[in-house]
This record gives sequence, C-alpha cells and structure tokens, in this order.
Amino acid sequence: VEPHISGLEIGALEVAELPDALALQKMAFMTEAVLYDNPFLAALEETFSDIRCEFSSKTFLAAHLESRLVGVVRGHVRNGVGIIERLVVHPGYRGHGIGGALVHALEQHLNTSSYTLFTGAKSAANIRLYERLGYRVTRTQTTDAGTPLVHLEKP
Ligand SMILES: CC(C)(COP(=O)(O)OP(=O)(O)OC[C@H]1O[C@@H](n2cnc3c(N)ncnc32)[C@H](O)[C@@H]1OP(=O)(O)O)[C@@H](O)C(=O)NCCC(=O)NCCS
Repeated sequence: VEPHISGLEIGALEVAELPDALALQKMAFMTEAVLYDNPFLAALEETFSDIRCEFSSKTFLAAHLESRLVGVVRGHVRNGVGIIERLVVHPGYRGHGIGGALVHALEQHLNTSSYTLFTGAKSAANIRLYERLGYRVTRTQTTDAGTPLVHLEKP
C-alpha cells in the first residue's frame, strides 16, 4: 500500500483546509459526473455547511504533496464497522497510489475489524483499487437518480 510517489504526507485534515477539500472534491468528482451523465451526484451537491457538519462527526484524512492538498477521505465507525467515504484524489495526481494510501491510513485510524464502502458500478478502476486493498463486492444497488452502485466489504 506504499504510494509510489515521494514526499507524500498523510495526516488529519485541518479545519482551515475544508474549503480546499470541498473544491478538490468537486473537481475530482467531475470525472464521475461525466461517466454517469449526472451532474447532481451527492459529492457534487455537498455544501460548505454540509462538510463542516460532517467534519465535526467524522475523521477526515488529507494527502499533501509539498504542502499542496492532493487527496482527501473521510470515515467513521458505526456498529463496529469502519465506513470509508468520499475518497478523492486530484485528477492530475492519480495513478500513483495516493488513493490506496489514503484508504489504508483511514483503516489504521478507524482500527475496526471490518470495513465497508461503495462506489459507482461503472467505475472499474475504483473497484480494482478497492479489490487490491482486500475489499470484495457484496451487493449492487441503483440510487433514486438511477446511478448504479456496488457495495464492498473487507474482509
Ligand atoms: C478513485 C480515486 C480516488 C483513485 O485515486 P488514485 O490516487 O488514482 O488511486 P491509486 O493510484 O491508488 O489507484 C488508481 C487506479 O487507477 C489507475 N490509474 C492510473 N492512472 C490513472 C489516472 N490518470 N486516472 C485514474 N486512474 C488511474 C491506477 O493504476 C489504479 O488502478 P489499476 O492499477 O488497477 O489500474 C480517484 O480516481 C478519484 O478521485 N476519482 C474520482 C472520485 C471517485 O470516484 N472517488 C471514489 C468514490 S467511492
């Protein structure tokens, strides 16, 4: 799970970085909006007050490269299960293992015996990434907006 990019630092996202984190999320999910032909994905609709509220109840981790915010993930524990949400990596920095390193760091932080997450069913690279990290597809679902999702769990 070591990222193959030097100088990457993963740690807690600071509250002052929330505007940057939300902007990064909006930029990152554009590729998904195109893939699903849907500009109203929940990650694109999230407001600053939504993310501020999330920040008070969930763990947010950030990846920085030379002090530039390049990735974010959030998560929490519910009923003993670690829930991983909204993984994003800057489009210009993908494919270097930053996403995988963020998920791994969040798992260590949540420190539970099992984890769950979901992604779009058409996002083949995302599914491969999660499978490489030990997740297995458990079920599929279609949202009210018609977006096909896959739920994955580990172990
Ligand atoms: C999903 C996401 C966070 C992955 O981040 P990442 O840092 O590229 O992750 P990794 O480098 O650890 O792995 C990415 C996979 O895509 C491949 N990849 C290579 N170049 C890539 C590029 N330019 N863009 C996207 N993926 C690329 C990687 O090789 C790897 O898969 P593979 O080795 O099986 O082919 C990122 O693509 C993203 O922000 N996507 C949009 C938001 C999203 O879909 N989030 C997930 C919601 S659950």
